[in-house]
Amino acid sequence: MSKVTIFGAGYVGVPTGAHFARTHRVTIYDPDTEKIDTIRKVVNNESDELHIHEKDLIELLRENRQNICLTSDITQALKDPEFIFIAVGTPPNEKGRANLKYVCSAAEEIASNLKNECIILNKSTVPPGTAYLVQNIIKKGLKSNVKFAVGSCPEFLAEGTAVEDLRTPDRIVYGCDDPEALDKITRFFTFLQRRDSLCPMTTLSSELTKYAANAMLATKISFMNSLALLCDTIGANIREVQDGIGRDQRIGSKFLNASMGYGGSCFPKDTQAIAEYAVLNEVPLSIIESTIKINHDTTRYFYKKIVEDFNGDLTNKNFVLWGIGFKARTDDLRESKPVEIARNLMDNGAHVHIYDTVAGALTNFKRENPTYEGKYTLYNEQYEMFSNEIDGLIIGNEHEKFRNPDLEKLESMRHKNVYDGKNILNNFLIKNLTRLKFQYKSVGKDSVVNGLDRSKLVNFLLDKYMD
Ligand SMILES: NC(=O)c1ccc[n+]([C@@H]2O[C@H](COP(=O)([O-])OP(=O)(O)OC[C@H]3O[C@@H](n4cnc5c(N)ncnc54)[C@H](O)[C@@H]3O)[C@@H](O)[C@H]2O)c1
Repeated sequence: MSKVTIFGAGYVGVPTGAHFARTHRVTIYDPDTEKIDTIRKVVNNESDELHIHEKDLIELLRENRQNICLTSDITQALKDPEFIFIAVGTPPNEKGRANLKYVCSAAEEIASNLKNECIILNKSTVPPGTAYLVQNIIKKGLKSNVKFAVGSCPEFLAEGTAVEDLRTPDRIVYGCDDPEALDKITRFFTFLQRRDSLCPMTTLSSELTKYAANAMLATKISFMNSLALLCDTIGANIREVQDGIGRDQRIGSKFLNASMGYGGSCFPKDTQAIAEYAVLNEVPLSIIESTIKINHDTTRYFYKKIVEDFNGDLTNKNFVLWGIGFKARTDDLRESKPVEIARNLMDNGAHVHIYDTVAGALTNFKRENPTYEGKYTLYNEQYEMFSNEIDGLIIGNEHEKFRNPDLEKLESMRHKNVYDGKNILNNFLIKNLTRLKFQYKSVGKDSVVNGLDRSKLVNFLLDKYMD
């Protein structure tokens, strides 16, 4: 059992701390006393509400409470840790570069307060080289002659499934250039995870691996989104193409869903950050620049599909939006595509009726969008808002509750439009919708509704392919 301190009680820090506490003694430190108090109340069974929504997290915190200490006091946080994990935010600045100010202030606090030998690992997503920067800051600010090593241990959990992702990760990537420290990190993780999931490497490779993973996943999505546009144009169905290529094990079936674009706290930020980092290093990654551009274009493409149904005039139009979180089962609205769509609709005169399965997502929307007050209404029930004043239903995320809508309850809509931003309705349902005179639009499946113009394609081939 090791003593661990986690810097940052956010979407990464709290689940990671609760997970480590299965076999280690963990202190979660955050200067935000409100967050620490919120977690403490949950751990002590005085409340059931955390500041972040994460499946099974409350249970895990309570299960391991005897190994968890919560504090906003830096002296207590750095009393005697053997490992420190920095899991503070690295939000993008206006140039798309990761802002390292929170990482650096964590390093300064460590330097001023560290009293015993320790390994410091960065869990935050950072530009390669940051561990060396942290090392320098600590070395410069250290008050005593304490031995320490700095490395990298990027996090790959996904919000909504963080607890399960931490319990059964595909791999644990960590890097440290000090071989003795690297061995100690390996031992730390062997208490927690399968040995074959451990993936030790150099510090720089570990830091780059995180950016590379997110850039690759985002690129898969953008690749499918650009194919989806081609599908709409020629009459193919992106879902069928997805199935066809996804069964090829060399390609894999995950992250191939065409949709209105990816969002969230990681993909947009990390793709932008690695693209910018590569440009600054004079090795531009044009493939990732395209990934980012396609993502913006796809959202615009989907939004245009809505607006064109009203000849560009959304005044006094009412839309229902199911799912405001950037994905199902999260209250995190950072770079959420449904939020972007909602704001565009409201900017153009529409009123948006918003439902999400996560109450915290609605609360966050209200808090983060004060200037839109009066232009939207929030609901805790999925069908409550349907009436003869509704002009369209937009599916914003992939929650299973949205996959099989109760069509009878949608019948009252003034304009029977269903816009499937996540491509989650199956062909059978789409056919049912069209039979009931609903118009259905998505990304890459226009042919399911519109059929296929074979003669147009034949003429195209005759015209362009007969040298
Ligand atoms: N959210 C995700 O799904 C996810 C997944 C993998 C990696 N990451 C990366 O992990 C990092 C953390 O992300 P997050 O979503 O948990 O952020 P978050 O904003 O939810 O939490 C960050 C926390 O750090 C705290 N903090 C700021 N300065 C601090 C300091 N000096 N000492 C201690 N705590 C401090 C803040 O108060 C906040 O509670 C980011 O770099 C992010 O890119 C996030």
